[in-house]
Amino acid sequence: MTRVWYNLFSYFLGQFERGMNIILVGFMGSGKSTVAVSLAEVLGFQYIDADTLISKISGMGIPQIFQIYGEKYFRQQEKKIISDLLTETDHCILSTGGGMPCYNNLIIQLNSFGVTVYLKCSTDVLVQRLKNGREDRPLIKGLDDSALHHFVSEKLAERSIYYEQAQFVVDADKEVQEIIQEIGNRLNINTTL
Ligand code: S3P
Repeated sequence: MTRVWYNLFSYFLGQFERGMNIILVGFMGSGKSTVAVSLAEVLGFQYIDADTLISKISGMGIPQIFQIYGEKYFRQQEKKIISDLLTETDHCILSTGGGMPCYNNLIIQLNSFGVTVYLKCSTDVLVQRLKNGREDRPLIKGLDDSALHHFVSEKLAERSIYYEQAQFVVDADKEVQEIIQEIGNRLNINTTL
């Protein structure tokens, strides 16, 4: 009888442990990568950046992928890496690309991969942060300030329906340390070093 309980306990512990991934979603400039790096360090988890993985697999940077193969190909790559991660990854903090949850129903896959957290930012904060990050991001490259504001406001409205399906929503207009603390509070985990 004790053995039965032990096996049951191990099974549920295994299920819990397998689910120990944290996935950050949100618009470009919402701080996903910065927060993910710190969170991984604090929790001793592996840090995975979806864009970096795609770059490695494709052998080129994200701007070149967009330029040579187009956005559709990039979205297929996003889908592929999620399928691969789903089968073999544990105890990781995944920083997704801003569009990842919004195509091919990937928010559903992300929700089954672990705990999803939406880093929610206002348009004004995103625009401010993205002003210096236009060159590396094909979707906003070459936009002037007013076009950037227009793009962010439109795209954020369009994508929010997907982001809001994350299991937790955190106010990410704040500083990194505050965001990490809020994630800790919401997920009931200790995020202090
Ligand atoms: C994209 C966001 C980028 C990158 C690609 C497309 C998007 O990632 O995946 O340029 O569609 O919003 P970041 O959110 O890390 O900038």
